[in-house]
Amino acid sequence: MKQTKTAFFCQSCGYQSGKWLGKCPACNEWNQFAEEKISSDEKGALTPFGTPPLSIHDIPIEETERIKTGVEEIDRVLGGGIVHGSVVLVGGEPGIGKSTLLLQVLQKLAAQGSKVLYVSGEESAKQIRLRGQRVSALSRNLLVLTEISIEKITTHLKDVQPSVLVVDSIQTTYSDTLSSAPGSVGQVREGAQQFVLLAKKTGIPVFLVGHVTKDGAIAGPKILEHMVDTVLYFEGDSGHPYRIIRAIKNRYGPTNEVGVFEMAHDGLREVANPSSFFLTERTDETVGSVVVPTMEGTRPILIEIQGLVGTSGFGAPRRTTMGVDHNRISLLVAVMDKVWKEGIGNHDIFINVTGGIKIDEPAADLGIVSAIISSFMNRPIDQKTIVFGEVGLTGEIRRVSQIQERVKEAARMGFNRCLMPKAQADNLSSLTPKMALFPINSLKEMLEYLF
Ligand code: TYD
Ligand code: MG
Repeated sequence: MKQTKTAFFCQSCGYQSGKWLGKCPACNEWNQFAEEKISSDEKGALTPFGTPPLSIHDIPIEETERIKTGVEEIDRVLGGGIVHGSVVLVGGEPGIGKSTLLLQVLQKLAAQGSKVLYVSGEESAKQIRLRGQRVSALSRNLLVLTEISIEKITTHLKDVQPSVLVVDSIQTTYSDTLSSAPGSVGQVREGAQQFVLLAKKTGIPVFLVGHVTKDGAIAGPKILEHMVDTVLYFEGDSGHPYRIIRAIKNRYGPTNEVGVFEMAHDGLREVANPSSFFLTERTDETVGSVVVPTMEGTRPILIEIQGLVGTSGFGAPRRTTMGVDHNRISLLVAVMDKVWKEGIGNHDIFINVTGGIKIDEPAADLGIVSAIISSFMNRPIDQKTIVFGEVGLTGEIRRVSQIQERVKEAARMGFNRCLMPKAQADNLSSLTPKMALFPINSLKEMLEYLF
């Protein structure tokens, strides 16, 4: 008699074990193991890939023709469009706009004449219709199915034969072959496996929506990320309209591309010129404000960093940051204290990156320092100045990547003064004749040129 095989899975990371464990050896979480049936034909999953060994030279390559969605920011992130038979996981926090985005992408495709299918296990057909109305996605070619059974979805798929499939979300789907609840690791993995198989077999590209837990991982198993071809993260701050979609894994293109959107009352709008988008609210000649060219993938984006230095009422001065790493500020303030000996470190210091964007590249160090100094000295920084450079522990200014793109973008946006690492200033002036470069070696030299 055939026995049903079961195993224990960590519900947080997907680690598999033959027996129950209290603590997961992979992710160190406690009390996460649950028994789940293992799909009986798991081995069979590999069959569509099963060909005899072949010389790499002789493997036929079909030109990977891509489906252009018509949403340029998405096409860019995917590396030039959707690849046939690819599986794309779209992760993001609840309410960030995943469903809206995918509905709009499907609408664009439907408007081009392709039949597309949106499967939702999260919302009723009525709710989807209402959202569709809001974002003008009411094409006849856009089919909606509210279903969570993978087997039923597959059956419908055979009838519909869509050119693109969206499953919103992978956590709500379930397979009849497993007894565990939807959303459990076993179900999510099984679901993803089925959709990967389906995509490879039929060539239909599949978008899977995946929820993200509070610490930023796609809820449930990390294994999901290994199974799909592309992982996109949709990020943003619910208090701000801007949204960034980022590829963190892409088997068919670069991973350093980002797409920028703005959430409006009628859906997501593409932001073709992010620099001007993030600088629109800037006022002239304000103390504590400076513009920094940051890189989002291969795209330079100008953003404003604001600093506020105030007298500290308590023993330990406060450091409050929005959009930059808290520890980085502590470090930079310590360096500034050492270099200038003005006692900046005894003050409360607040840093804000406007627009709700987050920056984690060291090139912004000099911008943070400038904003703090400007506020501390109560002197506004010249309106048309940009600064960038990494600050080392001894106060030296270190090299950063992609300076040409940064400076060019700033010049394009009308900036004409640039404080930058000395080591990188060669050859740059010929590139952007309108930009006056002020190469600096250390924080000490900076004050001469900043204001
Ligand atoms: P949604 O796509 O449902 O997010 P997710 O699928 O990632 O959970 O987006 C919901 C949010 O977006 C909701 O808070 C309202 C907002 N929104 C707009 O601001 N404008 C719009 O046109 C739409 C459709 C939604
Ligand atoms: Mg949704």
